[in-house]
Amino acid sequence: MQVAPLQLDPVLTGAYVFHTLFAGLWVGAVVLTAWKVIPLAKAGDMNPEVLGGITSGVSWITRIAALVFLATGGHMAATVYGAEGLFTPPRGHVVLTMLGLWVVMTGLVEVGGSRIRSALDEGKVRTAARDGGTFLKAAAGVGLVLLVLGGYLAA
Ligand code: HEM
Repeated sequence: MQVAPLQLDPVLTGAYVFHTLFAGLWVGAVVLTAWKVIPLAKAGDMNPEVLGGITSGVSWITRIAALVFLATGGHMAATVYGAEGLFTPPRGHVVLTMLGLWVVMTGLVEVGGSRIRSALDEGKVRTAARDGGTFLKAAAGVGLVLLVLGGYLAA
């Protein structure tokens, strides 16, 4: 049996590629920071420059990813779903949930990062990890839920 060649829209394909790429990159960075970096800092096994550098890296990825998600997710939603499709369960509702969780996760990473930076300005590594760690752990949890929703939509 012959399979007909797929007709791919290059812009939509690019949107899917960048969306998935940044999903993995962003959630991966936040999970690793919450899981490994924060406990090391809490134990005092890290100097302020290292924790500050990692936190600034996570903030940058978060901001670049925000632009990528809005552009690619917006294009994907408009092309594949349309306004009506977004309000059609279950897939449309999953996309809207994805949008809402992205706002929540971005907020948690930003608040966590700003708490860490405030404590680091006073040279307090353990306080920084304690103050920001809870937000980053919550963000990591939300990120994992986002990837599960993405897997559901991809299937
Ligand atoms: C502005 C926020 C976002 C919007 C508007 C959005 C929208 C969408 C849309 C419309 C799809 C395509 C669904 C389909 O093909 O049926 C999708 C897929 C996906 N999204 Fe999002 N999304 C956003 C944020 C995120 C975030 C923050 C993550 C994870 C960190 C994520 C992970 C995924 C994954 C893994 C897929 C599956 C891609 C595939 O089909 O291969 N999205 N998203």
